[in-house]
Order: sequence, then C-alpha cells, then structure tokens
Amino acid sequence: MALRNILTQEDPTLYKECRPVTDFNPRLHQLLDDMAETLAKANGVGLAAPQVGVLRRAVLVLETNVPEGQDEYVIELINPRIVDSSGEQEGAEGCLSVPGEYGLVKRPMQVKVRAQNRYGEWFTVEGQGLTARCFCHELDHLDGVVFTSKAERMLSQEELESGEY
Ligand code: NI
Repeated sequence: MALRNILTQEDPTLYKECRPVTDFNPRLHQLLDDMAETLAKANGVGLAAPQVGVLRRAVLVLETNVPEGQDEYVIELINPRIVDSSGEQEGAEGCLSVPGEYGLVKRPMQVKVRAQNRYGEWFTVEGQGLTARCFCHELDHLDGVVFTSKAERMLSQEELESGEY
C-alpha cells in the first residue's frame, strides 16, 4: 500500500465527471488499498477516487455508527448510486480537499446505496446520520461536485469553535 496525494479545491480534476469502473482487477484493488491508507492517515470519514486524481466511480466511506467496543470499518463503493433516501439533517460538513473549512449543508438523514464491491458483486448498504451525509458527499465527488457549492454558507472559525450555527 502507498499513500496518495489528496488534491485540493484549486485542482480542476475535482470538478470533472468520473467514468464507471469496468475492470475489477488488481489495479483497482491497489487504488482502493491506497485510498484506505490515505483516508486513515488523514483521519477522514470518506474519500473519493477523483480526490487522489483518478476519474473513476469509486469511493470509501467510514462507517462510524458501530456498537460500542466494535471497530469502525471502511465501506468500498464502486459505481454507487443512491436508490432511496429519507429525512433531513443540516450540519457542518468538511472535505479533505478543502482542509480546515466547513459549511452548512442539508442532507438526507437516511440513505440507501446500491454499489459494487471490489470484485464486481452488487450489494445494498444503508447509512444513517454522519454515514448518510458521507455517502451523499462522496457520491457528489463522482459527479465533480464539491460540497462548497452545496453549502448554504461557510462557517466562521468562531462558529466552529463555539459549535453554534
Ligand atoms: Ni470530500
């Protein structure tokens, strides 16, 4: 495994549409393994392939809603699409490509995603709360959408520190 460089918001790559993954080969597995290492090192909760310069429809989302005493785990989503969503949440959202900045973004509270795993097998996964937010955020990256364009407004340092917004 190897760390990959995370592109930041100035990079035009982040605003491009990604192509589907068609080959579920060792090269894809290497990419996913590298992304997992990069995500862990950056202490993030999600990472999309375009953020490491690969314009393919692959993302990682950290499932943080786990029973006490159990480890959080990374969900690999290849060619994902949202098949159902419900509820609403509004909260602070950030991105490893926009370091140190957060904005207020509305997202569904529950999201169901259909995707392929690294071997090409289809599965369905549901996320709640932060995980639902993360699914939406990472899938947006695949369409060249960075959260700053969806934020009602960006939050000031004061608001972030006080937690009042
Ligand atoms: Ni992001």
